[in-house]
Amino acid sequence: MMTEGLAGGLGLPIVLVAAVGENGVIGAQGDMPWRLPSDLRHFKDLTMGQPVVMGRKTFLSIGKPLSGRVNVVVSGPTLGPVEGIERASTLEEGLRLAGQAGRGRGARMIAVIGGGQIYAQTIDLADRLEITRVAVAPEGDTFFPMIDEASWREVARRGPVKGETDTAAVTFLTYERR
Ligand SMILES: NC(=O)c1ccc[n+]([C@@H]2O[C@H](COP(=O)([O-])OP(=O)(O)OC[C@H]3O[C@@H](n4cnc5c(N)ncnc54)[C@H](OP(=O)(O)O)[C@@H]3O)[C@@H](O)[C@H]2O)c1
Repeated sequence: MMTEGLAGGLGLPIVLVAAVGENGVIGAQGDMPWRLPSDLRHFKDLTMGQPVVMGRKTFLSIGKPLSGRVNVVVSGPTLGPVEGIERASTLEEGLRLAGQAGRGRGARMIAVIGGGQIYAQTIDLADRLEITRVAVAPEGDTFFPMIDEASWREVARRGPVKGETDTAAVTFLTYERR
């Protein structure tokens, strides 16, 4: 993989942040198959002030840069210049840009925020996973890679909780690499 050898050279841990259904689904038709204000708050708490790295499709699905965070969007030739984001034409470049920006701003981590293509290419580089396990198994077309227990150890868990306007209960899990 092109990005091998990067981990540790970025000066900040790589943390994958994702909401994942019981069946591994994270997305359906360019969107998320649930409405979870509790998880949006959790996501904001985790990522505020940290550089975030995402794929073009996730950026288009969010629709605008996330405020208070350096937004790095990885895209081949498809995405032109967009105000408020740093565009990277390879994942490696994206992680380096995020590392540089984050170190300059005293960030604690590089937050990789999806989607499926980007998680698949970064899970082997990641130091930590912040997984919101969603208590539902929806139909979908985009998946989180398998979290192999031989590589990952659960170190924190909160929940299940279900806010009034959440469409499912969620459990917040932290995994660290063994
Ligand atoms: N549940 C969650 O926590 C969560 C989080 C994020 C997203 N999602 C969902 O996931 C879905 C989107 O995921 P996705 O897998 O379809 O797309 P994605 O990973 O968001 O973006 C894919 C795009 O990123 C670019 N890309 C990927 N790898 C690259 C590389 N190595 N170098 C350069 N560019 C690269 C390409 O852009 P170009 O085509 O421009 O080259 C590619 O088409 C949506 O349904 C979204 O709602 C869910």
